[in-house]
Amino acid sequence: MRQPLIAGNWKMNLGLKEAVSLISELKKVKPNKAEMLICPPFVDLPAASEMVQGTHIQLGAQNMYPEEKGAFTGEISPAMLKELHCRYVICGHSERRHIMGESDEFIHRKVVSALAHGLTPILCTGETAEQRNEGRTEEIIREELETALFNIPSEQAETIVIAYEPIWAIGTGVAATAVDAQAVAHFIRGELTRLYGETTAEKIRILYGGSVKAANIEDFMAQKDIDGGLIGGASLKAAEFKEIYEKV
Ligand code: G3P
Repeated sequence: MRQPLIAGNWKMNLGLKEAVSLISELKKVKPNKAEMLICPPFVDLPAASEMVQGTHIQLGAQNMYPEEKGAFTGEISPAMLKELHCRYVICGHSERRHIMGESDEFIHRKVVSALAHGLTPILCTGETAEQRNEGRTEEIIREELETALFNIPSEQAETIVIAYEPIWAIGTGVAATAVDAQAVAHFIRGELTRLYGETTAEKIRILYGGSVKAANIEDFMAQKDIDGGLIGGASLKAAEFKEIYEKV
């Protein structure tokens, strides 16, 4: 009942020309039961928005600032993303948490603001290698989820997408095993059940992210609580992203 979601997070890659060329290739991919989403850099969004109109490709942003407008130099508002027909926005990616120092509270504000503007947050959560070795994965994820979802009612919560991205698996070529990823996704669904009850928790899509590629996507998709992938490096090449999408 949960529609699979194959999402490409381009991160700080692909300028306008490269973006146009990748999207042209992705437009040729035959739609299937899964949703295909691309999250290009901000500067590519206007062109991407025009290109994907009326196609099976959904558009998302990698970030946003949780205010209406005003003196926030360098930032982009949710309304600006809506104007470009973005449907999704990534909130709390570990690169923003760790490199830009974003706190759980700030990420919570983004989730609230995204929802208020009709954007679907893709809320990222995941542990570092050190936290994993200390056996703290569940504690970290529980804390990230509880803070980000604080006071968010179930009617809104059921629309959110959660991405489990173990930090040690991002960009390393070493993905979590499907069994390990499922165990954490199951834990996440359990936490969502505790917060919202089973009916709502069963509606929420959980993605796995971290070195997903065409060669391993089927293993992840075979897991009960994994509803798709949040894909970095492998989303930058048309042929590989297409293959991933087609394997779902
Ligand atoms: O958000 C996607 C991401 O962090 C995973 O990146 O390059 O390991 O697929 P990658």
